[in-house]
Amino acid sequence: MIRSRVRHSPGRTPRKEWGGGRCKDAAHPHIGFTGQGEPEEGNTPTPGWLWAFSAILVVAMVYYLVRFGGSFSVAAHEVEQPGLAAAQRSTVPVKGDEVFSAVCGACHQRHGRGIPGTYPPLVASPWLLRDTYSPIRIVLAGLYGRIEVNGAMFNNRMPPLGDKLSDEEIAAALSHARSSWGNRALRITRSDVKSVRESSPLRGPWTPPELEMAPPPSMRPGNVP
Ligand code: HEC
Repeated sequence: MIRSRVRHSPGRTPRKEWGGGRCKDAAHPHIGFTGQGEPEEGNTPTPGWLWAFSAILVVAMVYYLVRFGGSFSVAAHEVEQPGLAAAQRSTVPVKGDEVFSAVCGACHQRHGRGIPGTYPPLVASPWLLRDTYSPIRIVLAGLYGRIEVNGAMFNNRMPPLGDKLSDEEIAAALSHARSSWGNRALRITRSDVKSVRESSPLRGPWTPPELEMAPPPSMRPGNVP
């Protein structure tokens, strides 16, 4: 006899599934579970389809882990980010001739001789060569008004580049200009630019007379020598 099957025949008290909860009301035959008898523990074997389904699940899980688990390596979570690439690039030394050509050369020309009447020359220019801080100040904050360079007059405007170029880029571009086309002057370092930037915080463009009168940054109060 199969225990789980409900037997119901005239004159007999129906049996409930799970073996044996008997309906006490014989005149009122029920089919199936009535709630009047507690189900009892049986030992029906696990059906074959459940085994098969479990096996498929396990295979699917293993496949997923092998395919997408990244060998459980921490590196699997390191997504390549644009910021990271930029940070790595910044460790590559900045090339002065490249910055000069890309930025300064647009006006002062790649050969540094400028354009007569419009952009002053950097070749043999005392503004560029006589000290380290004046050219840094010009590049950081810009310059406007009448200026004489090697006997020629200019009255134009150079935009501030302090927020567009890093200390390193400014140092590299100025060092390139100070050592090219026959110019011979000391290299300008990144820390030179940094200390000038810190000693003269945000300000508008210089005029040539202002620039000549301004003391060197090391003489300013609060400047780190
Ligand atoms: C948009 C054009 C422009 C760019 C870009 C530019 N300058 Fe100038 N620069 C000028 C002008 C114009 C003057 C003169 C301003 C005036 O008439 O008062 C000048 C003046 C100067 C001077 C002082 C005068 C001289 O001829 O020595 C220096 C030094 C200088 N620039 C360096 C640079 C450097 C270095 C860069 C790049 C980091 C640069 N400039 C980028 C237009 C520019």
